[in-house]
Amino acid sequence: MKIQRAIYRKTGVPREVCGVEEADWGEPGSGELGVRMEYAPIHPADINQLEGRYGRSVELPAVPGGEGCGVVERLGAGVPPEWLGRRVILPGGVGTWSEWCVVRMEGVRPVDPGLDPKQAAMLRINPATAWLLLKTVCEVGPGDWVLQNAGNSAVGRAVAQLCGAWGIRVVSAVRRLDSVPVAEPGEVVVLDDEALPGRVAELAGSARLPLALNAVGGESALRLGRLLNEGGTVVTYGGMAKQPLRIPTGLLIFKDIRWRGFWLTRWWDAASEAAREEVLAGVERLALQGVLKSEVDSVFGLGELEAALERAQQGGRTGKVLLRLSRDCGGNLDA
Ligand SMILES: NC(=O)c1ccc[n+]([C@@H]2O[C@H](COP(=O)([O-])OP(=O)(O)OC[C@H]3O[C@@H](n4cnc5c(N)ncnc54)[C@H](OP(=O)(O)O)[C@@H]3O)[C@@H](O)[C@H]2O)c1
Repeated sequence: MKIQRAIYRKTGVPREVCGVEEADWGEPGSGELGVRMEYAPIHPADINQLEGRYGRSVELPAVPGGEGCGVVERLGAGVPPEWLGRRVILPGGVGTWSEWCVVRMEGVRPVDPGLDPKQAAMLRINPATAWLLLKTVCEVGPGDWVLQNAGNSAVGRAVAQLCGAWGIRVVSAVRRLDSVPVAEPGEVVVLDDEALPGRVAELAGSARLPLALNAVGGESALRLGRLLNEGGTVVTYGGMAKQPLRIPTGLLIFKDIRWRGFWLTRWWDAASEAAREEVLAGVERLALQGVLKSEVDSVFGLGELEAALERAQQGGRTGKVLLRLSRDCGGNLDA
């Protein structure tokens, strides 16, 4: 039996190096699961990894894909039978853009059968990042304001949804106002331009502004940093504009604004099993309640990988590009 799987053999030019290849089915060994994959998103980090510009390199050839979901169909020796038929999400580093994955059971997490598989495929990275940005950087509570750029990104929408659920006000700066068709409760969507500081000052008045979330960089990050209260924190978790941060000395000295980074991978490596589970159970619960919802722009079969990658790198989207991996999901798997 054959499977289909995206493989890249060198880095630098994602559209040329990604192809669909047939390989033999992998049989799960001791302690391993055989997972028929359903969906996997294409994230900016996946593209960065293909380009060889990510924080962690992989040994080539490699299968791309940082997250995804599927159904356990085969069990290796020593795996409890309850795993069979469970929908699961995969840990990082597995390479999810494949019809079939063989993976050690540690780190694989079953999800509630009621969770939509597309939502499950997008749960582990962006909603978890949003959760941790709001919970681990500094104290933010009801009535406080959080500022963010890339407010229409998947992380940005999850931040706004969590803020809405937790009574936190949020200013979401975006490049196109129509990229957020419906604002969350307590959210204000504004253009990320020179007029932003005036608008935020008007909106927030004397409320606390302790935290800014930066996924863009350059001037956009600086605009957010200038608006924070003394001692506030700008946390950078992405660099979509590919512009460095140029921080005025006065913001450091006179306002003591703190500039720091966040990387889910680092947090995950350092976290206890219980801390990881608290985050995943939290975002799963909110996804089941419909509070957290990741929009889908388009769904491509694995055989349409080039077109999917092209779409994922285009502006003007209002959601994620997903790969449909299993034949059972009706995907076009003809290379
Ligand atoms: N540090 C971590 O652990 C971590 C975890 C998850 C995600 N991230 C990062 O978070 C960021 C967002 O990820 P995502 O999956 O949520 O993204 P996404 O849903 O694919 O959305 C991409 C966002 O980037 C914006 N963008 C694209 N090019 C831009 C440019 N040149 N200047 C300004 N904005 C630009 C887009 O705006 P338009 O719609 O206007 O094009 C959109 O808001 C990425 O940098 C990603 O790597 C980091």
